[in-house]
Amino acid sequence: MIRPAASSARIVVLSGAGLSAESGLGTFRDAGGLWARYDLEEVATPQGFARDPALVHDFYNARRANMTASAPNAAHEALARLSRRDGVTLVTQNIDDLLERAGARGVVHMHGDLSRALCHACGARWDAPAVMSPEAPCPDCGAAATRPDVVWFGEMPYRMEEIETALAAADLFVSVGTSGTVYPAAGFAALARAAGARTLELNLDPSGGDFDEVRTGPATQLVPGWVDEVMG
Ligand code: APR
Repeated sequence: MIRPAASSARIVVLSGAGLSAESGLGTFRDAGGLWARYDLEEVATPQGFARDPALVHDFYNARRANMTASAPNAAHEALARLSRRDGVTLVTQNIDDLLERAGARGVVHMHGDLSRALCHACGARWDAPAVMSPEAPCPDCGAAATRPDVVWFGEMPYRMEEIETALAAADLFVSVGTSGTVYPAAGFAALARAAGARTLELNLDPSGGDFDEVRTGPATQLVPGWVDEVMG
């Protein structure tokens, strides 16, 4: 049992698709997950987007609609409460906005944000419309070059310097609902441990990663209880 963090402890929480699973958003690698139903090469790579931008927009338009129709769950709400404590960095691999809708502040979306759009001609970013299409012009430069502001395989995740700085200073690293299969996120526990942090996994199916403690169960049962331990 990892001692509840002291009030001054610096905590980094990494979340994955398991955090939003109980809100009805699919995971990727569980049975029936997104990558069992879609070819990630076609819908989650720059090459796939170049080949068929309409297919990729359709894929993210459907996920955006599902996200909008979903609601934050008790785990999002607990992490939102934790985010108001000093010394906490919430990093998520998820592109949904459920943490923000639960009231979380300063969420670091390392794989981007489905509610945002990006122009790959001029780099402009804006709030994504419900439905995006290849023909829609960029509101800044007018080019028909818009894409969801998400990070695809083969692209650099966002805000890595900020994340690595937080990991290097962490007293506690907590991984919530991620299979730990995609780098660089899969290497965060080792980075935090190398800097002297204790490490805890909260997951439905343990990832097998090297954690000081692993608690197994659904996020809505594990996360609120853990946040209560930390917040006292
Ligand atoms: N509560 C907690 N954890 C859960 C729940 C739940 N209700 N349901 C599933 N999980 C866990 C699974 O046990 C698994 O460890 O969520 C994890 C889902 O793993 P993946 O589907 O691989 O999702 P994730 O780890 O977020 O994937 C990482 O891969 O495809 C890319 O960019 C994509 O950000 C994603 C990255």
